[in-house]
Amino acid sequence: MSVEIRPLTKSEAEARILDIAALRIRIFRDFPYIYDGSLEYEVKYLDRYLKAQNAKFIGAFSEAQQLVGVATCLPLIEEDDFVKSPFVKAGFKPEEVFYFGESVLLSEYRGKGLGHKFFDEREKVAGTFNSRFTAFCAVNRPLNHPLRPSNYRSLDDFWKSRGYEKQNQLISHFEWKDLDQSVETEKEMIYWMRSWK
Ligand SMILES: CC(C)(COP(=O)(O)OP(=O)(O)OC[C@H]1O[C@@H](n2cnc3c(N)ncnc32)[C@H](O)[C@@H]1OP(=O)(O)O)[C@@H](O)C(=O)NCCC(=O)NCCS
Repeated sequence: MSVEIRPLTKSEAEARILDIAALRIRIFRDFPYIYDGSLEYEVKYLDRYLKAQNAKFIGAFSEAQQLVGVATCLPLIEEDDFVKSPFVKAGFKPEEVFYFGESVLLSEYRGKGLGHKFFDEREKVAGTFNSRFTAFCAVNRPLNHPLRPSNYRSLDDFWKSRGYEKQNQLISHFEWKDLDQSVETEKEMIYWMRSWK
């Protein structure tokens, strides 16, 4: 199955926003995010990226032009304070960091190099901003989490192979409702960074 990876224009992202929300809800339902997604949460979350001046959505399109995956990115200075603040506290200049939001791909399209292409595309965008660092975060779940599947394989080796290092001192808290909870709770998100200069 051939899949095209390309940036969406702003108007395409707006037109596809419910598809993007649906992908996030479906894919983040799995461990480690176990996100009990709602359209209300999604609209609020994704609106940040639609409104940010330099945010980009990178889409993965099937032959039928169905959106089967998406990755986001933007200069860290355009992110919310709760994302910027750990960098500022650790002495980084937010204007030197380019931030990657999520990358999500339907499971049947995985393992074919598209995750690498999402990184290539976002790193290309970061290059146009002459960014010194690229960064993203991932949820920190305990190894003995009751919903962790026995065959779960972490993405850490993939990220290390892309030159990223886990920064245990850079932590934000994101809130969402887990599948096994009744209300939204704070999740510890740890950042990974790669230096380009
Ligand atoms: C992240 C994601 C988009 C990567 O997509 P992908 O198309 O499978 O990635 P690739 O095919 O380019 O593979 C990337 C690497 O991951 C490895 N990999 C493949 N399947 C994997 C799996 N099930 N678990 C962990 N790593 C896997 C591959 O071996 C590859 O490494 P290699 O280049 O050394 O061979 C996809 O796994 C996904 O949607 N995951 C769920 C959402 C998520 O956790 N996103 C990241 C945080 S926002």
